[in-house]
Amino acid sequence: MAHIDEATVQAIRRKHPIKEIVERYIPLTKRGEDYWGLCPFHADNNASMSVSTRLDMFQCFACKKAGNIFNFIADMENITYGQAIQLLASEDGYQVNTERIENKNTKYYEIMSLSIKYYQNNLNSILGENAIKYLEDRKINREAIKKFEIGLSISKQPLTPFLLNQYDLNTLIDLGLTNTEQKDIFNDRIMIPIHDLYGNPIGFGGRIYQTKDSSKYINTKATKIFDKGNILYNYHRAHSKLNKEDSIIIMEGYFDVIRASTIGVNNCVAPMGTSLTKSHIQILKKITNHIILCFDGDKAGELATIHAIPLLEEAMVDTKIIRLEEKDPDEFIIKRGAAAFLEKIKNPMNVIDFKMNILSQEKNLNDTKETSIYLDQIIHELLKEKDEILVELTLKKLATRFNMEYSTLNSRYLEYKKKSKISIVPPIQKEIRRKNNTQYRQATDNLLYYMIKSPDVVLKAEDTVSMILDDKKRRLFNEIIAYYHKYGKLIVADFITYLETETNVADTFQNIFTLNLKSTYTKEEIEDYIKCINYYYKKNIIDKLNEDLKKEPDPMKQASIIAEMMKIRGVKNND
Ligand code: GTP
Ligand code: MN
Repeated sequence: MAHIDEATVQAIRRKHPIKEIVERYIPLTKRGEDYWGLCPFHADNNASMSVSTRLDMFQCFACKKAGNIFNFIADMENITYGQAIQLLASEDGYQVNTERIENKNTKYYEIMSLSIKYYQNNLNSILGENAIKYLEDRKINREAIKKFEIGLSISKQPLTPFLLNQYDLNTLIDLGLTNTEQKDIFNDRIMIPIHDLYGNPIGFGGRIYQTKDSSKYINTKATKIFDKGNILYNYHRAHSKLNKEDSIIIMEGYFDVIRASTIGVNNCVAPMGTSLTKSHIQILKKITNHIILCFDGDKAGELATIHAIPLLEEAMVDTKIIRLEEKDPDEFIIKRGAAAFLEKIKNPMNVIDFKMNILSQEKNLNDTKETSIYLDQIIHELLKEKDEILVELTLKKLATRFNMEYSTLNSRYLEYKKKSKISIVPPIQKEIRRKNNTQYRQATDNLLYYMIKSPDVVLKAEDTVSMILDDKKRRLFNEIIAYYHKYGKLIVADFITYLETETNVADTFQNIFTLNLKSTYTKEEIEDYIKCINYYYKKNIIDKLNEDLKKEPDPMKQASIIAEMMKIRGVKNND
């Protein structure tokens, strides 16, 4: 399908009211506010299909099909969503009239976008030749330059005077582009635009490329829209690609992420010059439960990995590790090639293997006593491991390596395990669990339903929901928030186009949209849903800690797990 940009698709959709499109196929009669007809998608005798001119959506109350004009055409003609767009586009030789939706930061984003364009033009000008050469030498191809909107600041062609034609000085200073002397902050640097979680441009990383005398990078200072602790470089692109890979790879530098993309690895992010924090993990946790750490190959990268593991373990993220035999991912790919890197990603290390390596580094494993300590440490680490097969494999690996009997190691493991099986919290009964499950599902569905209907609920949910456990619903939840932030409002008939073309959760949306809950809701109801969702999430963590506790032989560590459980239980609400 020829690519049609989003604004054009919206314009086409607005040009064709849903009633007009549906009436091409079936007759409708007005009843109340809406129009009704026989649903063409199931054997219908009752005119179960309603067409809402207000929402520009159709929905069948019997078979639960719903959508906008493109869904309707796609289902009637038995073609894809994209083909339905194409069909209408060619029907009316579209002219587009994009209306911009105002949001409180729209002006800032507009200035940042303009700056990106300006820097891009610089890079393509004669004065950009050296910078292009620098990028080419680093094997950053044209496609990557374009995709990552890489540009160039040039002191002889400053940005500030250009922007001052349209915007006032204080705004430019606030955005970290200009100083009080009306001079550019970035001079003669390769400019890498940074976006927030929703894809709005908010800052730059500027790298030197022809001198060595000043700092390698200057990053935008903290501004109203640039909050370094709460963003990850490339998050918005990685997020939109997440269906296929379903894991996120964390790297250290911009150029690692960019370079990876040139070999088709698009699910990478990087914290900007800081170590990985709990809030980074919380951000990632909302979109995936699988994280691969791929830090630099040096000692610092190893330390960063060691530092990150307990944070990820605490957040119950499925963690894998890649260690590189070169300086960083960028250099690894350049020196060893794409295939070698893809192999690394395909077979990342388990945390336990990584720990085994680290623990062995500090020891002389020719010494019997040290070896025995080493084995003991690893067996303790193995108690945390849920996967029985992995435990067995690891024990066998150790047995071979140290020329021991597997059964000796295994009985030591079982002995520790038995010691650690002191259950303090009573087992959760299945019955209660099942009941909670229904309640939880309803709370999630209802919350999503009202998020679709009301901006207030979106903002409230964004602030207070800890995490939704179901993958698709979590994705929908995040898409609603991201869409809302991008456009300042959520027009359902446009939102569904986005979901159909960019995500795999359009069906989840349809299920929620057709719930037909009552049209009004109270603040208390919403709060109850959120409470239930957070309670269930918390319970999930406690269950997990409880399992850890059963495996933990060390009384001190048991105590700290119990303390952790108490802490989590203590956090507000009603259990
Ligand atoms: P290259 O040397 O171009 O390959 O850079 P890189 O992207 O690989 O970055 P590197 O691994 O050296 O550093 C990781 C991240 O730390 C960078 O992406 C920057 O965000 C940040 N950083 C590195 N050097 C500096 C610096 O001198 N100043 C600031 N503010 N940040 C830096
Ligand atoms: Mn690098």
